[in-house]
Amino acid sequence: MAINIKTPEQIEGIRKSSHLAAETLKYMEQFIKPGVKTIELDRNCEEFVRSHGATPATKGYRGFKHSCCISVNDVICHGVPNETVLEFGDIVNIDVTTILNGYFGDTCKMYYVGEPSEYAKKLVEVTKECLKIGMQQCFPGNQLNNIGFHIAEHAHKHGYSVVYEFCGHGVGIKFHEEPDVSHIADKNTGPKLKPGMIFTIEPMINAGKARCKIDRKDGWTARTIDGKLSAQFEHTILITETGCEALTDVYGDF
Ligand code: MF3
Ligand code: CO
Ligand code: CO
Repeated sequence: MAINIKTPEQIEGIRKSSHLAAETLKYMEQFIKPGVKTIELDRNCEEFVRSHGATPATKGYRGFKHSCCISVNDVICHGVPNETVLEFGDIVNIDVTTILNGYFGDTCKMYYVGEPSEYAKKLVEVTKECLKIGMQQCFPGNQLNNIGFHIAEHAHKHGYSVVYEFCGHGVGIKFHEEPDVSHIADKNTGPKLKPGMIFTIEPMINAGKARCKIDRKDGWTARTIDGKLSAQFEHTILITETGCEALTDVYGDF
């Protein structure tokens, strides 16, 4: 199976959907406060996405029932919105994927609830840097796994570990397409990047050990094995003739 090369028409559709996903994350900022339940945030998210003529891709996806994933503190990803109440000092990830006119855009970022510790903020900042470093490897002719190689190098330099049980992925026509994008990988391996490829980079970086465990009750929420913090940022990336365009980068904040 080959990696899809998107047509100009598909690219335009995916760009529009990606912009809406980015606008959704921006819209959510106002609701991030101590005392708010993650299930309430999910409702705000769903309302915004639908009011812009789109559908949240996670709703009904393999039995997932919500419009976004909300991952607090030691939750790595796929946090199921529920009665969890945000507390001052928490770090929170919201991951939203929109379907607009049949096209998918996928992005996530971290939010601070009040003022987290320096320890927590450092993890978040380094994770943001990891995404940027991965994006610097996105140009035609470069090999895919150089993304993960450089991400892991940066994370390890700061004493953090890289989650290897979840990857980035091709995206646009479907939610998850080829290729898998590892965030820890061997240098100069993997397929060569070509203009028209679209995939996500979404590093999950842990303060402690890399391993995760899945919540036995909800079957989705992935937590760090040692209870330490985890952070994640995600962009949908288009390979262009000269480099890349982060289709979900509307505000330049990550
Ligand atoms: N948006 C996530 C990603 O970046 C996938 C969430 S799938 C779900 O790939 F089912 F957990 F919602
Ligand atoms: Co994704
Ligand atoms: Co996502």
